[in-house]
Amino acid sequence: MNARLTEAPELNDGTPLEIEDATSAKVALDINEVCGIVGNSAALRRVLGNVKVVAPTDATVLINGETGTGKELIAEAVHKCSDRSNGPFVKVNCAAIPAGLLESELFGHERGAFTGAIARRVGRFELASRGTVFLDEIGEMPLELQPKLLRVLQEREFERLGDSRTLKSNARLIAATNRNLEDLVNEQKFRSDLYYRLNVFPIRVSALRERAEDIPLLVRHFVQQFSRRMNKSIDTIPSETMTALVRYPWPGNVRELQNVIERAVIISTGQLLVLSTEELELSANAPPVSSHGSGNLRATLEEAERQEIVAALERTVGKIAGPNGAAALLGLSRSTLHSRIQKLGISILRTATCR
Ligand SMILES: Nc1ncnc2c1ncn2[C@@H]1O[C@H](COP(=O)(O)OP(=O)(O)O)[C@@H](O)[C@H]1O
Ligand SMILES: [Mg+2]
Repeated sequence: MNARLTEAPELNDGTPLEIEDATSAKVALDINEVCGIVGNSAALRRVLGNVKVVAPTDATVLINGETGTGKELIAEAVHKCSDRSNGPFVKVNCAAIPAGLLESELFGHERGAFTGAIARRVGRFELASRGTVFLDEIGEMPLELQPKLLRVLQEREFERLGDSRTLKSNARLIAATNRNLEDLVNEQKFRSDLYYRLNVFPIRVSALRERAEDIPLLVRHFVQQFSRRMNKSIDTIPSETMTALVRYPWPGNVRELQNVIERAVIISTGQLLVLSTEELELSANAPPVSSHGSGNLRATLEEAERQEIVAALERTVGKIAGPNGAAALLGLSRSTLHSRIQKLGISILRTATCR
C-alpha cells in the first residue's frame, strides 16, 4: 500500500503524544510552526521544551549535536521565541573564517588596524546589538581568541582591532558544535573557563537515527516542499520507500535526508516519488524485508516471486499490459500479475505514467 501525502497515514497523526502535559505539547507544536521545525518525537519535543524555557532569558545557549541535525534551526528558534526576535540574528561560522580574520569578524576593526584593513569595519557583536550572535562550530575557535569571547560574555566588553576604546555589547550568544567540547578541554584545545561559561544551558539535538519516528514527517515535508518548488505533483510515497528511508541510519542526519529527497523529486515525473532504495547503503543489521508467509519455504518462494516481478517491472518501466508489458514478459495474464502485485505488496516505482 502506498502512503498518500494527504492521507496522514500511520506515523503521522494517529500516533499518541507521549507528553503528559497538553500545554507543553501545544508549545512544541507552536514552535514547530513558527520556526519550520518538523518532527514530533519525544526527543525533539524535549529540545523544543528547552527552547521555550531558555528563549525569554538572556542566557547563553550551547547546542550540541551531529552535523545536519538542525542545530542552526534550533538556534533560530531560540532567537525567534525571545524578546530579541525583532533584532538581528547574526551568524558566524568559526570553521569557515580563517583564524587570523575571526577576531576582526567578531569585534570589528579600525581603518589601518592591519594590512588590508582599508576601511573601518563593524564586527558581528556590534551588528547584533539587541539581537543574537550565533557562533557555529565554536569548537574551531582559536585558543588565543577565546579569552576575548569570554570577556564579552562576562563583562559585555570588547574593543575593535586597532582602537583602544572599550565598547559595550548587548548581544545574546548562542553557540553550536558537533564536537565534544569536554574532550577538547582535556586535550587543551578549548579553555575550560570558556567552556563552563558557554555550558550554562546546554541543548543536545539527537541524531536522526535516534528519533526515527520523525523521518516520515520529514520525508513528507521535503517532498511537498521540493515538489512545490519544482512544480511537480508528487502525492504518493511508496510504503517500501518509506520503510527503507526509516531504516537507513542517516549519518548526515536531516541535511542528508533533505538531499536524498531533493534528488528523488528531480527524477520523479509522475505522482509517485521515485527513489532507488539501493542508493541508500542500507545498514548491515537492518532487518530483512518482511514476508507474508508463515513457513520458511513459503517466505522464500514469495521472495523469489517478488524479485522476478520487480525485475520485470523495472525492465518495462512499470508497464504491465501489452506486448511489451511485464505480464507478457513473465508469461502471466494481466489480471494474474495484477493480483500477485497486490498480494505481495509491490509498489511500482519507476514509471512515467503510473497511477
Ligand atoms: N526538524 C527539522 N525540520 C525541518 N528541517 C530541518 C529540521 N532539522 C534540520 N532541518 C534542515 O536540515 C538542514 C540542516 O540543518 P542545520 O540546522 O543546518 O543543521 P546543523 O546546523 O546541525 O548542521 C537545514 O536545511 C535545515 O533547515
Ligand atoms: Mg550547521
